[in-house]
Amino acid sequence: MKKTPKYIKIDDFLKMLKDGDKIVGGMAANEPQLTISNLHRAFDDYKVNSLEFTNCLGIRQDAPIYTEKYADKIEIASWFYDPAIRKAHGNGNASFIPNYLHYAATKRFQRVKYDYFVSSASMPDEHGFISLSTCNVYEKAAVKNAKVTVLEINPNFPRTFGDLEVHISEVDYLIEADYPCPTIPDVPLNEKDIAIGKLIAERIEDGSTIQLGIGGIPNAVAQQLMDKKDLGIHTEMFTSTMVDLIEAGAVTGKKKKVLPGKHVAAFAFGNQKLYDFINNNPSVLIMNGAWVNDPYVIGQNDNQVSINAALEVSLDGQVASESIGTRQFSGAGGQVDTAVGAQNSKNGKSFIALYSTALVRNPETGEREPKSKIVPFITPGGAVTLSRSDVDNVVTEYGVAELRGTTLKERAIALIKIAHPDFREELFNNACEIGILSKRDRVKFNEDF
Ligand code: COA
Repeated sequence: MKKTPKYIKIDDFLKMLKDGDKIVGGMAANEPQLTISNLHRAFDDYKVNSLEFTNCLGIRQDAPIYTEKYADKIEIASWFYDPAIRKAHGNGNASFIPNYLHYAATKRFQRVKYDYFVSSASMPDEHGFISLSTCNVYEKAAVKNAKVTVLEINPNFPRTFGDLEVHISEVDYLIEADYPCPTIPDVPLNEKDIAIGKLIAERIEDGSTIQLGIGGIPNAVAQQLMDKKDLGIHTEMFTSTMVDLIEAGAVTGKKKKVLPGKHVAAFAFGNQKLYDFINNNPSVLIMNGAWVNDPYVIGQNDNQVSINAALEVSLDGQVASESIGTRQFSGAGGQVDTAVGAQNSKNGKSFIALYSTALVRNPETGEREPKSKIVPFITPGGAVTLSRSDVDNVVTEYGVAELRGTTLKERAIALIKIAHPDFREELFNNACEIGILSKRDRVKFNEDF
């Protein structure tokens, strides 16, 4: 006989929890906000002593579970750090799960059987199907992995298609919720964004299929693509600017080989216009992240273009996008999946885009000072996200370094040329010290850097 999910209140869920229970939450906009903002009350009101909680790109930065007060009670694992988890890390109860997005769920779920999967979701339809709404990175797989599935169903969450529908018979408990679907503010572009956007846009041919990563720069690139024709979307994250591209007629998806005419993503995260667009829209497919981000699948589209951001790029082409030295900042997400996938594609291209400098606080003076993001080597302790063997184009506001197939010498020269002018001399000297370049190579640059 089919199971019928029970409607419960948040406190009924908190009462169910037992010491040591492992909970995995939906990611990004699918973060179950009633659960996240009340989970500390399992300790305060229901005498639970310990829980394990796994998340990815969380959005409720104010949840008490992330504070020091609960550091002895809750152990947090995360596929993608956000500011709250970065802080919790300092309290000693958070740890990062290294991963490529397309393996994230499979590898973790092979190791851990979760007691609960809790996520936001859209309302059940008349046939009893509930859409997991904005995310299918690991959410549908989590329904299968977890012993118990609890969904915070919410009329404000878009009902989307793809392979993220679950039938109520697969769900154990439903909690009615009414919070807005979380949005990311639209950030105005600055001059550097526009310069980088133009450099990349002029290398994207009509008919290309695009992927845009997380951060301000990929978004800026999209704004420069409004005049293109017949672009397609096969991306991990479906973004607000992708909706603008579709509405401008730049995206038709006609030239795609994988699901032509459909806009394919593993999750959607952006503004309210984006959520209105994907609601009940059969042209958008939110598919399993393990499939969407599989580099082999990505590579089946011709002219696949991946655009991702980074924190540092070393002179030999190693890309650090998730940590600054030993400090875990975010996660690898789909950067490697999509960069490698794009290079598997006929005429495909991968771009790593970053400003030439970051403004970093000097610990002694407290002042913010420019620091080159092109570095002799990745800050010690930092994770290499995209390896030097997989890197393709690196872009700053000063130009594009085409690194595919280059020697270490050729790539150091190309990268120094797109570094901020104030750092070029120093980088050249560094490259000579570490033996990538020799003083003889000075003639390959302009007289003054
Ligand atoms: N050294 C020290 N600090 C640095 C730095 C560096 N090399 N580079 C950046 N920073 C600082 C910035 O100054 C900024 O600090 P602030 O918030 O105090 O101003 C902060 O780090 C964030 O930098 P920013 O460039 O604004 O980040 P972003 O929001 O554009 O995101 C990434 C960039 C790389 C962190 C983000 O794209 C990411 O996590 N990528 C990995 C995953 C990925 O690419 N997924 C793609 C598939 S969807």
